[in-house]
Amino acid sequence: MEESKKTLYSAVQPTNSLTIGNYIGAIKNWVSLQNDYNCFYAIANMHAITVRQNPAELRKNTLSLLALYIACGVDPEKCTLYIQSHVPAHAELCWVLNTFTYVGEMERMTQFKDKSAKHADNINMGLMDYPVLMAADILLYGADVVPVGLDQRQHLEIARDIAQRFNNVYSPTFTVPEGVYMKHGAKINDLLDSTKKMSKSAENVNGSIFLSDDRDTVLRKFKRAVTDSGSEIKYDPDNKAGVSNLLTIYSVFAGKTIPEAEKQFAGVGYGEFKLAVGETVADKLAPLQAEQARLLADKAYLDGVLKSGAEKASYAARKTLSKVYKKIGFYQI
Ligand code: TRP
Repeated sequence: MEESKKTLYSAVQPTNSLTIGNYIGAIKNWVSLQNDYNCFYAIANMHAITVRQNPAELRKNTLSLLALYIACGVDPEKCTLYIQSHVPAHAELCWVLNTFTYVGEMERMTQFKDKSAKHADNINMGLMDYPVLMAADILLYGADVVPVGLDQRQHLEIARDIAQRFNNVYSPTFTVPEGVYMKHGAKINDLLDSTKKMSKSAENVNGSIFLSDDRDTVLRKFKRAVTDSGSEIKYDPDNKAGVSNLLTIYSVFAGKTIPEAEKQFAGVGYGEFKLAVGETVADKLAPLQAEQARLLADKAYLDGVLKSGAEKASYAARKTLSKVYKKIGFYQI
């Protein structure tokens, strides 16, 4: 851990399967940032339970996600990779930060309102407290930067507010984190509805390519992808959203620019084009899936990664928590 490097924090929930959009937007980012920052990467299982989870699935997803990130190149030697619930300081700091957060501002959070509507039978306190736990995650490690998707912007803003509030009441304690909103360079849309972002929770699974999809599934989904009534393979998101989305996916997975891809597919029919995109994606996913499976078969290794991750994270988190406890007047022995 080099002192000169800035600290970076990010986390992902172990829910559902990830899509190729997540791969491009989040996983590749984690990999590319790990050399330049002192990175803390968490699997946010405490956030996950704010909506009801199947316990066996949650456990399984947690480990598969860990294996997937390592398979994609997140290096546990370079960064601190751990499970949120393994570090009790998250829950502890969350409690303190709750007393610096107003009910009204939590009620106004967009995600809380959306999820309350979606899970009307289970509007629990944890769902409402979600942003405060997220603030605790970030502030425990003194993170300078937090790369997240745009949907998390409001949560990041509230984390900054809470940090500043605390710092103003006491003395500078928390680093006020900077949000880095990933403009993926490439935004991947649904294969069946090119106006929508490809999502892991889309209603129709055929519009999303999951990182766990096998070759036949990938090819079948691309075969069905919507295009248009024309015949030209040209990047034009306004008029040819489907084809443009396919070109974007191809360019990312083939490591080519859009103009290079356009040139390559000039005069080619849509059917052949879709097959080529599907094959390129499937070829890229196969080795990742194989490596993930290999890692999942080596539980001793994964547990070792988690153990050392939790130790490294706990050490940093305890330091912050003890500062906080001191400032607020908790008697410590
Ligand atoms: N809420 C984030 C998401 O769903 C995951 C998350 C939890 C997170 N804690 C975090 C992201 C702290 C960044 C920092 O994407």
